[in-house]
Amino acid sequence: MENKLEKIVSLCKRRGFIFPGSEIYGGLRGTWDYGPLGSELKFNLKQAWWKYMVQSRENIFGVNAAILMHSKVWEGSGHTESFTDPLIECKTCHERMRADMPEQISEHEAAHAKKKEKVEWTEPKNFNLLVEAKLGVVEGEKSTVYLRGEITQGVHVNFKNVLDSMHPKIPFGIAQIGKAFRNEITPRNFVFRSREFEQMELQYYVKPDEETASDSFDFWKNERMQWYLSLGMKEENVRFREHAPDERAHYARAAWDIEYNSPFGWRECEGIHHRGDWDLSRHSQFSGQDLSYFDQETKERFMPWVIETSGGVDRATLFFLLDAYCEESDRVVLKLHPKLAPYKAAVFPLLKNKPELVEKARSVYSLLTKHFSLGPIAWDDRGNIGKRYFSQDEIGTPYCITIDFDTLENDTVTVRDRDSMKQERVAIDDLKAHIQRSLE
Ligand code: GAP
Repeated sequence: MENKLEKIVSLCKRRGFIFPGSEIYGGLRGTWDYGPLGSELKFNLKQAWWKYMVQSRENIFGVNAAILMHSKVWEGSGHTESFTDPLIECKTCHERMRADMPEQISEHEAAHAKKKEKVEWTEPKNFNLLVEAKLGVVEGEKSTVYLRGEITQGVHVNFKNVLDSMHPKIPFGIAQIGKAFRNEITPRNFVFRSREFEQMELQYYVKPDEETASDSFDFWKNERMQWYLSLGMKEENVRFREHAPDERAHYARAAWDIEYNSPFGWRECEGIHHRGDWDLSRHSQFSGQDLSYFDQETKERFMPWVIETSGGVDRATLFFLLDAYCEESDRVVLKLHPKLAPYKAAVFPLLKNKPELVEKARSVYSLLTKHFSLGPIAWDDRGNIGKRYFSQDEIGTPYCITIDFDTLENDTVTVRDRDSMKQERVAIDDLKAHIQRSLE
């Protein structure tokens, strides 16, 4: 199974999904660059999330906050004080590890044992994960800011702005997708744990009572699981796991994870957290601004509680890739949901050296690319048709469309389905609808 991760890493590099960050300079640990196909996949994933979580709900509003935030935000949110991991250092080779990751510690000790070396560790100390940056143009007067450690705070500091501009009635939510940065002690497992990554989050504000909060928590927990399943993630590969009280982040009163059955074990894909009034109360206190909510119906003023759903875009991308990866006799196929697939279809002229076929194929290609709602369409005229099929299978293209001599006679094409490999004859006029159906 471990091998499957290596296969995905290699496929991602070879076919233009994901590359190591700053590679020509020897790489920068914990960073990854998305290539042409990876960018499409990630874009599709974020778009599916935004449609499902924001655009199809009347009481959810989107924001897009700055990455650079006032340093007081992080004091208010508790991150400068409590956003830490326990760090230990190997006294032999000085490599640093997280003290709460026994598997990695054992691996490290085993590597030294092979060389007949015994490992001694330093005492654990708390290491803050916030990434610092310096802002300003005058040397000596630059201020220290933090690249946001979670996108969450960009939402809470805009709570009042959204209230004043949109006048939402409680319960309502504010959603955001964007980059977050963490000085992870041991970035590893490809894009699973990196130092720069993207999150997709909902902060859902509810009345401060246990029953309301618990109902909302259950509702969003299930909605989030449904989202993964609706995009084709296999049911047997996802599960819920409740956090023990000593595992929870400093802001959480309750926390559940959606976990994925990865080649490196069941791992967190997304967290659902009951944050209580932690964020709004703390930001009220630290900013001196009143962030309470006035309920026009009950004439009550209160500090709302927050139910949060927080998923990683890069983790979801990796887990969808792992879930979709299949080896079938002589082909490798990514059975990605068509909504996620980088290309929605590929168009081939049967023969590259027959101008009338190429011209007809070009006209079909232009026709389909004109329909923006379909998404990108690939063009391929290299090698024989079998090779082109396998090349598209490996990147998850749901349909391959071949223009042959019959097309010139009757305006029909051969459409080959990625998963069943079945071929059928479809009229050019019906192609758009044929592809569209898979995207609904
Ligand atoms: N606002 C709550 C929050 O940030 P979290 O559990 O620390 O909670 C939420 O992070 C999600 O962000 C995780 O479930 C994971 O998908 C993603 N994530 C966190 N750290 C990450 C990292 N170093 N690399 C990639 N994704 C990460």
